Amino acid sequence: MDGSKSRTLFSNSDAAYMRRALELAARGRGQTSPNPMVGAVLVKNDQIIGEGWHRAAGLSHAEIEAFANAQEEVEGATLYVTLEPCCHHGKTPPCTEAIIARKLSRVVVATADPNPLVAGKGIETLRAAGIRVDVGLCETEARRLNEVFFTYHEKKRPFLICKWAMTLDGKIATESGHSRWITNVLSRAYVHELRAQVDAVMIGVGTVLTDNPLLTVRLEGYAGRQPYRIIADGNLRIPLRAKCLTLAKQGEVIICTSTMAPQDKIAELRAMGHEVIVFPGKALLDFTEVMAELARRGIQSILCEGGSSLTGALFQAQVVDKVIAFMAPKIVGGLNAKTPIASWGVMHMDAAIDLHDVVIRRFGADVCVEGYIAPAEWNKVPNKRHPASSASLPAAPQGEVVEPESKASRLKNEVSRKEQS
Ligand SMILES: NC(=O)c1ccc[n+]([C@@H]2O[C@H](COP(=O)([O-])OP(=O)(O)OC[C@H]3O[C@@H](n4cnc5c(N)ncnc54)[C@H](OP(=O)(O)O)[C@@H]3O)[C@@H](O)[C@H]2O)c1
Ligand SMILES: [Zn+2]
Repeated sequence: MDGSKSRTLFSNSDAAYMRRALELAARGRGQTSPNPMVGAVLVKNDQIIGEGWHRAAGLSHAEIEAFANAQEEVEGATLYVTLEPCCHHGKTPPCTEAIIARKLSRVVVATADPNPLVAGKGIETLRAAGIRVDVGLCETEARRLNEVFFTYHEKKRPFLICKWAMTLDGKIATESGHSRWITNVLSRAYVHELRAQVDAVMIGVGTVLTDNPLLTVRLEGYAGRQPYRIIADGNLRIPLRAKCLTLAKQGEVIICTSTMAPQDKIAELRAMGHEVIVFPGKALLDFTEVMAELARRGIQSILCEGGSSLTGALFQAQVVDKVIAFMAPKIVGGLNAKTPIASWGVMHMDAAIDLHDVVIRRFGADVCVEGYIAPAEWNKVPNKRHPASSASLPAAPQGEVVEPESKASRLKNEVSRKEQS
């Protein structure tokens, strides 16, 4: 048996308990960073006797919550947990100790923890204590749930989502640069939900200059943390009176600039309490470096909200994990009206980036297409080959259509009062 996975065939009830643990884990969404979302279910005599999830960073881990909520003696029970139990002293003591002390008979783990502090050692510790550990049940779902955490630890960069809103004719603004609003209030409420789930929101200085957005989460009753606001601004053109600066708290804004930036303006921005990271070289930043630096600062996820130059630079650097594109039934025309991605493009349809695990949502008459970019997509070489059209077409990609959500109606009123972005 290898260090992490066993060859166990899991039963249907194993799968049902793990799916329940995944459901519980998802309740921590937006609250747990830099920790992952984790859920745990304790089962004895084919009955759930305890459940728990990691509610927020700094609070108990899922396993400990499940023990605390257990309805009966847990000795001999099976624990279903969506991530390998920790074996290190963090803000809380190791969960492996608690599991061993309570004499569980079996632990079923969805996936090993990519965090080097754990990475298989939690599983080994439990096995060394004589507990049966089975690994790999619902692993795909568990990795997807914590896609941010896995990307951060495995790729040493934040999980990056590029989001844009466009008209039916593919424009993100009119020819004059005006873009408020393309999408309806329901779509915009969803964007606020997305902001609440990430560590940081990012835009280019062009968007600061045209739209002057605030970039905060403004959902009614929202009391969670605000994401960092990251501005890509190689020449440091950002006006000191920009709303994203003046209405931010100390340390909430990170400006990524270059050695081309004027020193006095860097000093002024820092004196205002903003973080300015100066990257060596020309004004056009290399986003591979930018992402690595942001990861070193502990930022695990970023929602990039444009504009087209910045999105292009991110595609150029091949650091985009997911796309969320809204399309509204409006037409603005204009050859010079911007489209979602500038300064990056392929020459041949074979090289187009195909999204996978596509989900289509509807918000009123707006459509939102979400999908992932598999790493292999970046290997497509533009213009490399021009095959003759094939006789048979491949199967249509898998997708899911999500009908208008009741949640969307609930959110409708939440953003309508505060219309600025
Ligand atoms: N509908 C939507 O979803 C949406 C979203 C955002 C914006 N918009 C619209 O898009 C338009 C703005 O787009 P845009 O392309 O002009 O603006 P942008 O991408 O927000 O900002 C472009 C500027 O950012 C800086 N920048 C870009 N790449 C960089 C890199 N690799 N390193 C350092 N700095 C970099 C450059 O500044 P320097 O030139 O100084 O180097 C560049 O001029 C506006 O009309 C806005 O309303 C629409
Ligand atoms: Zn733990």
